[in-house]
Amino acid sequence: FHLDIDASETDKGTYEYYMLKEIDEQPIVIRRLLDKYFGENGEILIGDQIVSDIQKADRIYIVAAGTSYHAGLIGARMFEKWAGIPTEVHVSSEFAYEQPLLSENPFFIFLSQSGETADSREVLQNVNRAGFKSLTMTNVEKSTLWREATYALPLVAGPEIAVASTKAYVAQVTLEAILAYAMSERIDLDLEQELSTIAVDIQAIVDDKAVFQEVANELLVPATSTFFIGRGSDSDVSLEAALKLKEIAYVQAEGFAAGELKHGTLALIEDGTPVIALLTQPKTAGLVRGNIAETQARGANVYRITTSVLAEEGEKGYVLPDVDPLLAPLLAVVPTQMLAYYTSLGRNLDVDHPRNLAKSVTVQ
Ligand code: AGP
Repeated sequence: FHLDIDASETDKGTYEYYMLKEIDEQPIVIRRLLDKYFGENGEILIGDQIVSDIQKADRIYIVAAGTSYHAGLIGARMFEKWAGIPTEVHVSSEFAYEQPLLSENPFFIFLSQSGETADSREVLQNVNRAGFKSLTMTNVEKSTLWREATYALPLVAGPEIAVASTKAYVAQVTLEAILAYAMSERIDLDLEQELSTIAVDIQAIVDDKAVFQEVANELLVPATSTFFIGRGSDSDVSLEAALKLKEIAYVQAEGFAAGELKHGTLALIEDGTPVIALLTQPKTAGLVRGNIAETQARGANVYRITTSVLAEEGEKGYVLPDVDPLLAPLLAVVPTQMLAYYTSLGRNLDVDHPRNLAKSVTVQ
């Protein structure tokens, strides 16, 4: 058994924790995916057979757990909007035992950093028994999900060692974008160009470490609970942001669709409650502003993660460069990863090894 890993990739170097190293590697990961999946003339090198098999499907089912599930939620929007294929996203531990009614000609996509998540493996076995086709996107070549699916594509993120997944998420969203783009009827977007710009933009965000450390120390280190809100893809990123904060900083956090606030959760907002609002989707920005105002009226301490076109003078928050709304999660997630990292650090926790958790969950 041979593991093809460059020693520098598993070396922490000058970093105190792997998680920050892995956050910093995200621009390189995107560039690696571009090198691997785009040819010299901009053609996409995913494999014609995979693309045509998925295009023949009447519905895509994305199955995954945790952070990979959150990456699936974002990819589903791309498969629907760019490729025009109805897509459902399912938590593998549910799907394995409460299988929904399937369409006539389904195609399954498994997202998994490790390729070994037991819940996802269980679903793949059922899928294989039923004779349906599948694709695994994983960071670990020759892993179980890699070997047992019809097709497999590597995330090429390099070894991810911190329990909290960061660069594998960015790799999954990037690869989903490339796949959705390969299946689209040439949408008006140069994806290769967009993604290389995004890699540069992420570099600028990760270089702003001092900004996020200060916000984490002021807003989140003392917090007992936190809310992440957004609409569309921002609501997906909210879920991921909340998971990261819970997982490594042990702060009770909830992420959800901003419009749901008034249906109950608003009751939890008190004087000083941190609310992190993701505001990258032009279509719904006005509505999210309304939701922000609702929390502020109850005393919330709001921090915005927004884009240059949507930012308004005098608002507290971090401004990302403008980007295609479906790709915005690739930028918006990075500040939330860094906020979780610095909150964990500020609470003197072991960032890479949160209590009660394992890197790969091989029990059901
Ligand atoms: C993420 O930070 C978690 N540690 C966890 O949710 C993880 O994403 C999940 O267990 C799925 O793992 P996989 O991607 O290896 O299948």
